[in-house]
Amino acid sequence: MSKAAQLQAVRDQLEKDLPHLPLGNINEPTVPGDGSADAELMFIGEAPGYYESVQRKPFVGRSGQLFVNTLAEVGHPRETVYITNIVKVRPPENRDPTPQEILAYKPYLDREIEILCPLLIVTLGRFSMGKFLPEVKISQVHGRVHRVNWQGKPLYILPMYHPAAALRNPQTKTAFVQDFQKIPKILEWIKGRADVDQLEKGLKEAFL
Ligand code: URA
Repeated sequence: MSKAAQLQAVRDQLEKDLPHLPLGNINEPTVPGDGSADAELMFIGEAPGYYESVQRKPFVGRSGQLFVNTLAEVGHPRETVYITNIVKVRPPENRDPTPQEILAYKPYLDREIEILCPLLIVTLGRFSMGKFLPEVKISQVHGRVHRVNWQGKPLYILPMYHPAAALRNPQTKTAFVQDFQKIPKILEWIKGRADVDQLEKGLKEAFL
């Protein structure tokens, strides 16, 4: 089965499971992951908001526009990447997702990661960062690449501020844009990963 077909199967399963999931009975639709099935770059946000729920597409509201425009400016138009959330239904009044909700929607996100096998995962905000880097503070690690062991395989994680935080605070916005500007260089390093020691040294010198 192609990657696109496998991702569609995840969406179909999510839709089927919705009545049994937390947030499944509040009359909000699922907002599945969106983008290229061949993406090298995967972005994980928090949960859909109002506009995402209406359009059933992640990051189409105000913070989504900042995110997508910043991404395009560093050479990655939206349709070339894959964008998803840890929780796939809008929580009431856009409140933070609960640990129980994050856990319930985890299998769908895990499948998306397994299918895509992205070169780099960018986490947007502290909730998605917490999936891979539970013990850290976003203010201390944003914009720095971390290599983590995920289900026995190495994954490269780049934690970033959430675009909604960037919209609220000009300093955070500066950091947000600067972190995005590192993406092309980081991808270059990861692609040249024949020599892992060299990669680590390079990443350290460049970013850590
Ligand atoms: N914020 C998120 O974390 N995800 C979205 O899809 C929209 C806003």
